[in-house]
Amino acid sequence: MKKIKFLDLDAQRKKINSFLYKNINNVLEGSNYIMGPEVEELEKKLANYAGAKYCVTCASGTDALILALLALKIGRGDKVICPSFTFPATAESILITGAQPIFVDVSKKTFNICYDKLELVLEKYRTKKNKIKAIIAVDLFGLPANYSRLKKLAKQFNVSIISDAAQSFGGSLYDKKVGAINEITCTSFFPAKPLGCYGDGGAIFLTKKSLRDKIVSLRAHGKSKSKYKINDIGLNSRLDTIQAAILLSKIKIFNWELKKRNNIAKLYIKELEKNFITPYIPENSVSAWAQFTLQVRNRKKILYYLKEKNIPAVIYYPIPMHLQPAYKQFNSKYIDLKNSEDLSKSVFSIPIHPYLESNQKEYIISSLNNAVKNIIN
Ligand SMILES: Cc1ncc(COP(=O)(O)O)c(C=O)c1O
Repeated sequence: MKKIKFLDLDAQRKKINSFLYKNINNVLEGSNYIMGPEVEELEKKLANYAGAKYCVTCASGTDALILALLALKIGRGDKVICPSFTFPATAESILITGAQPIFVDVSKKTFNICYDKLELVLEKYRTKKNKIKAIIAVDLFGLPANYSRLKKLAKQFNVSIISDAAQSFGGSLYDKKVGAINEITCTSFFPAKPLGCYGDGGAIFLTKKSLRDKIVSLRAHGKSKSKYKINDIGLNSRLDTIQAAILLSKIKIFNWELKKRNNIAKLYIKELEKNFITPYIPENSVSAWAQFTLQVRNRKKILYYLKEKNIPAVIYYPIPMHLQPAYKQFNSKYIDLKNSEDLSKSVFSIPIHPYLESNQKEYIISSLNNAVKNIIN
């Protein structure tokens, strides 16, 4: 059996080699390294894929969130809600704009924000001076959040929703793909993401032309149609042409990869649910399976056993944001974040990349089930 990798970008590269080199070579021959024609071509393809009205690419998933917040004029004095159990960039983007994050707990079932607890926090802050301006909903591990519930709350409390879909591009809710579900959706093309490039990259999907135009300006220093007339204070955050060319080759196999990931997830759930808490996928939702994450009480021992068996496993995330040294100051003692704390102690993710071979999947499953048996006995 071949060595099991957590992610196999090498096998993926071999599958797309012919398009990849041709596309990269075209960029080299055209020498349009910044905003070359591949960037616009990719934006059209991504919008078309997601069924979104507009797509604006940028330099990273983190910048996508910052650009979305700036476009909504969120900054100093504003408060923005986000889950505590997430990747740091979600909360970081809020602070970079000058706004303050308010951490809300997640559900142990979906890993996404807990809507009942969210409602309590929105209610609590309704009367406070600095009102909550937005909620960043994270589609953690690839599962789209419950946007119908979120949209109702957003309307009731008059807040915007930004979707942090860094891990969920390719997923869907009812018949809508991520990118077309919410008015502002940010994603990441970090190499390990379901659709990843060979460096940093990101995109924002939008329904409103005014926001699209604002973000196009903000990603290039806030310039207007005339390059040296600056209307807004923006960033330098464009997607490199070479990365766009790489993504154009990867998007060709994206649906095939998603299907593979979904099949592996189905198999894992069926074979592992007797010994582990397996991910829950609500009806009408399709996950992009950025991660396949299990919950278990004896995590340390299980991880030790897996290491012995040469099965890579990773903890996403070992510390919830409200307990991170740099973010502790935003931990409110009035907000219950117990699920985030519990999950940080019980979760671990196992390989779910599309290039896993049958014997590798079987080995992962039997090793995990044996680990539980061995540890209990
Ligand atoms: C939930 C979430 N949000 C934001 C980001 C930031 O994306 P990037 O690394 O492209 O800046 C990530 C990336 O890991 C993420 O997982």
